[in-house]
Amino acid sequence: MKVNRICLNNFRNFKSISLDFKDNINILQGKNAKGKTNILEAIFIALTSVSFRNAKANEWIKFNEPFLRCDVFVQEKNFENKISYSYEFDKKKVFKIDDIKLKSLNELYDFSNVLVFFSDEIKIITESSLFRRNFIDSFIVKMVKGYKQNLILYRNVIFRRNLLLKGMNISSYYKEEMNALTKKAAVLCFEISRQRKIMIDLINEQLKDIHKELTKESLYIEYESIVSSFSKSKEEILKEILENFFKTYKLDTENKITNFGIHKENFKFILNDKDAKLFSSQGQKRNIIISVKMAQKNIFEKEKFVKPIILLDDLFNELDEKRIDSILDYLNDNQIFITMTDMFNIDRKNVNIINI
Ligand SMILES: Nc1ncnc2c1ncn2[C@@H]1O[C@H](COP(=O)(O)OP(=O)(O)O)[C@@H](O)[C@H]1O
Ligand SMILES: [Mg+2]
Repeated sequence: MKVNRICLNNFRNFKSISLDFKDNINILQGKNAKGKTNILEAIFIALTSVSFRNAKANEWIKFNEPFLRCDVFVQEKNFENKISYSYEFDKKKVFKIDDIKLKSLNELYDFSNVLVFFSDEIKIITESSLFRRNFIDSFIVKMVKGYKQNLILYRNVIFRRNLLLKGMNISSYYKEEMNALTKKAAVLCFEISRQRKIMIDLINEQLKDIHKELTKESLYIEYESIVSSFSKSKEEILKEILENFFKTYKLDTENKITNFGIHKENFKFILNDKDAKLFSSQGQKRNIIISVKMAQKNIFEKEKFVKPIILLDDLFNELDEKRIDSILDYLNDNQIFITMTDMFNIDRKNVNIINI
C-alpha cells in the first residue's frame, strides 16, 4: 500500500497544505517544530483512526480554529481510495472512505497497513506492562478483524463488573449479574489471550533471525499469560480462567476492582536470556524495537498480503550510516516516510525530499 497525497486543513500547525509523495523513500526535512511529526501523525490517523502520540482529537485541531479536515489518498495495486476525516471541537470524529461516511471505525481495517517508529517508543520496554499490552494489541488490531471489538467489549465488561464491586449498582440481582459478567469476561479473556499467543508466536518466529542478523544477539518475547498452557482444550482453558476469577473474587470485593484478567498480562523482551527492561543499554533497547518492527513488517506481508507503509520519526538522526543503509535495504519494497533535521545524503534512487 502507499500514500499518494495528503491535504490538511487546520491540522496542528498547518492552516492548509497539500503534499505529493513518491513510491519508495520520502524524506520530510526541516528544522525542529516545523511540523514533520505532525504530518506522519495525520497519515497514521487516516489509516488507524488514532494518533501514535496518544493525543486526543481536540489536540489535533490547529490552535484557535473550530475544526480540522484531512484527506489522504491511498493506493493498493491499481485502486486509489480517498480516506477523509474531520473533527469539530468536542464533537465526534467523522471518517469517510471515498466520501461515504463510515458506520464503524472498524471499516478502516483494510487500510490499517502502517508501522511507525518514534523515539518515545523505547517506553514499550522501560515502562509498565500497560505499554507492552497496548503495543501488542494495537498490532493485532491491524492484523485481525474483530480483535478491536473484543478489546472494547472486554473493557466494558470489566468496567461494569468494577461498578458492581463498588456497590454503585446494589440490586437484588447482584449475584446473577456478577456471574453473568464474570462468564462474559472469561470468554473474552480466552479469545484475547489466544490471539495474543498466536501473534507472539508469529513475531518470535521472525524475531530470532532478524535480531541475530542485525546485532548478533539473541532476542525473543516472553508472554506472561493468564492461561497456563495453550495446548489444553478450549473447555479446559475456560474452566481454568473461571476458577481464577472465583479465586480472586474475595480480593476483588476488598479492593472493589477486578484483579484477574487479560488486563493483568505482561510481555517481556528477553535479550541474551535476560529481561531487557532490567538489563539492557539504551542502544540495545532501540535495536530491540527496530527488530520487532522488522518482524512486524514481515508478518504484514505474510499474513495480510500487503506491504505496510513505514513511518520513521527521528530515527535516522540517531543512527550511523551503515545502520541506516541496512534498514533501507530491508525496507526496499515499502513506501517509507522519514523525518530528518539534518541534510541527508542517501545514495539511492527514488528519494523524494520534501522541505517542511
Ligand atoms: N493543535 C496545534 N495547533 C497549532 N500548532 C500546534 C498544535 N499542536 C502542535 N503544534 C505545533 O507544532 C509544532 C511541532 O510540530 P512537530 O511535528 O512535532 O515538529 P517537528 O518538525 O519537530 O517534528 C510545534 O511548534 C507546536 O507548537
Ligand atoms: Mg518531530
